[in-house]
Amino acid sequence: MSCPKWAKQRVEELRKIIEYHNYRYYVLDDPEISDAEYDRLFSELKQLEIIYPQLQDPTSPTQKIGGHPLSSFKEFRHNLPMYSLDNGFSFAELKDFLARVYKQLKQKVEFWVEVKLDGLAVELVYEKGKFVSGGTRGDGIVGEDVSENLKTIRNIPLRLLEKFPEYIEIRGEVVLLKKDFYKLNEQKIAAGEKPFANPRNAAAGSLRQLDPKITAQRDLRFYAYGLGQVRGISFSTQEEIYNHLKQMGISVVPEARKCFNSEEIEAYFQHIQAKREQLPYEIDGLVIKVNDLALQEELGYTARSPRYALALKFPAHQAETVLKDVIFQVGRTGVVTPVAILDPVEIAGARISRATLHNESEIRAKDLRINDHVLVQRAGDVIPEVVRPILEKRTGKEKPIRFPAQCPVCGSKLERLSGEVAIRCLNMSCPARLEANLIHFVSKKGVNIEGLGRKWIPVLIKSGLIKGAGDIFYLKKQDLLSLPRMGEKSAQNLLQAINRAKQNITLDRLIFALGIRHVGEQTAKILAKHYASLDELSKASEEELRQLKDIGPEVARSIVSFFTLPANQELLKQFKKIGLFPVKPKDFLKQTLPLKNKTFVLTGSLKSFTRDEAKTRIEELGGKVSNSVSSKTDFLVVGENPGSKLEKAKRLGVKIINEEDFLTLISNS
Ligand code: IVH
Repeated sequence: MSCPKWAKQRVEELRKIIEYHNYRYYVLDDPEISDAEYDRLFSELKQLEIIYPQLQDPTSPTQKIGGHPLSSFKEFRHNLPMYSLDNGFSFAELKDFLARVYKQLKQKVEFWVEVKLDGLAVELVYEKGKFVSGGTRGDGIVGEDVSENLKTIRNIPLRLLEKFPEYIEIRGEVVLLKKDFYKLNEQKIAAGEKPFANPRNAAAGSLRQLDPKITAQRDLRFYAYGLGQVRGISFSTQEEIYNHLKQMGISVVPEARKCFNSEEIEAYFQHIQAKREQLPYEIDGLVIKVNDLALQEELGYTARSPRYALALKFPAHQAETVLKDVIFQVGRTGVVTPVAILDPVEIAGARISRATLHNESEIRAKDLRINDHVLVQRAGDVIPEVVRPILEKRTGKEKPIRFPAQCPVCGSKLERLSGEVAIRCLNMSCPARLEANLIHFVSKKGVNIEGLGRKWIPVLIKSGLIKGAGDIFYLKKQDLLSLPRMGEKSAQNLLQAINRAKQNITLDRLIFALGIRHVGEQTAKILAKHYASLDELSKASEEELRQLKDIGPEVARSIVSFFTLPANQELLKQFKKIGLFPVKPKDFLKQTLPLKNKTFVLTGSLKSFTRDEAKTRIEELGGKVSNSVSSKTDFLVVGENPGSKLEKAKRLGVKIINEEDFLTLISNS
């Protein structure tokens, strides 16, 4: 089909608009339009490129879906070596570094201090503003050409926005955000695959995929921290490089600040360390760089690292201890997981006495034995795990870890299903499975019955008071008081918590709580978006479910077989009877919804909700949630550490409410 002029113009216009909104979203962290509006622009561009293939362009934002699989990676040679950094582990080492710098330069020096992202170093090459190639650091001289994969990363623009030079090599870190790391591991575990040990391994594994389509699904991010070879522009400070990179549409390391002495650097270190767990990405310290590039050159390099920079590391998430024993836990799906019993050890502020050993092949691969000295790791919300044995400390008294042949709880023979690493207890009524299922059911991300979980579920099952999830809602005070070590006050609190859970349940959490195989938090959210109630979901066919985004054949099959089981049909009936049955309002109901036509914007973190939960609540009550403040915003909900939206809302006179006001508003509604 010949291509009319208007289509050509519109395609160019759409590309510019989309690139601009990518820039607002990724670089400035201040989007101007909603996700839905963005999606509309994107699909308009995609459609035009399909109708008029002659308009396709390798640098169009639509090209981020990933090209053809490769058979191997080519070499990627760096024009200038990519150095490593010297590490410091204490303020004393920081002072030594500063003293060396002052001694050599004989003058006062400004430092540019930024977070050290824990990912994978890469270099991107742009010629005349267009992305041409990119590679990993490798040994600093030669890495791997991962251009096709880098192209799929959403915050790597395929064309720079403005003020770009003739040629520029941009260096930075590719990371996987913590939330995406948890999501990916959730999927891996559900599929019976080995999870990644940490976000860095996950980022590296995702970028070094021969099939770019897999990389495209992983939602990696790139943050720049420096330059390689450059032609057609020059800079005088690190700070200037940052500002210029941002103008070109490149995301830079998100936390950085200028410091003038060791006190300021130490204060910044404490500040970042305090918010380390809340940051969306993993960091392992700060990088301190001399700001002035001429002074950097004057200081020069050792064989391995620049003399103008230091990585000041946070205390490790790892510690050494002794593996005393291994016990075997039976999970919801009957999977038997080996758990290490450790000599208690403190890691990053928590006392650790247990850690997961994943499965038998992992134990064999790591060659772990009882009585081994081991390295244990804890990062963020991840379950602590044993990294490896300390082989130098073996005495000969270590004993092999033996796997049971029978279920440690019900005695049934354990089986390994074909293609799985895990061994399972296949007895559906194994008490351990019931216990794990119910603990999952009442957990925070599930029905959320505070105080019941791990402490009381086993006791309630043992006493015969509950045999399934529905029974929890029939518990009476005298039932609870009959339990050992249950006082009047605790019984009261539990009953209140059960009641509260019933009032506050949302469809997505209820679906997640059911513990359907392969249905994690994210999948539950997708299902709750498309179905108005459990009834509707239970009637969906495999074909219908497979139409939904991110729902594959295995997940669809698992959902259908869950609802086919008569015991689960019964459970649904019981839920209905109890009133544990959220039904999403149909559109016509929205007419009378209390927050109808009200637009909310959220900023900062809320204590009682995640962003998504708050959004779901608002939408259920008929309101809308937008990403940016405008004169049309009705309420700005302010949590902890609010962003620039607060200032904008004040300027525009938008009503500002805190979390407490918000809770009142939605509970009154
Ligand atoms: S500067 C010549 N800045 O840390 C100096 N590196 O341990 C080049 N890294 O290979 C590095 N965040 O992958 C720099 N803000 C940051 C960084 C950073 C993470 C990584 C980078 C480097 C490694 C060295």
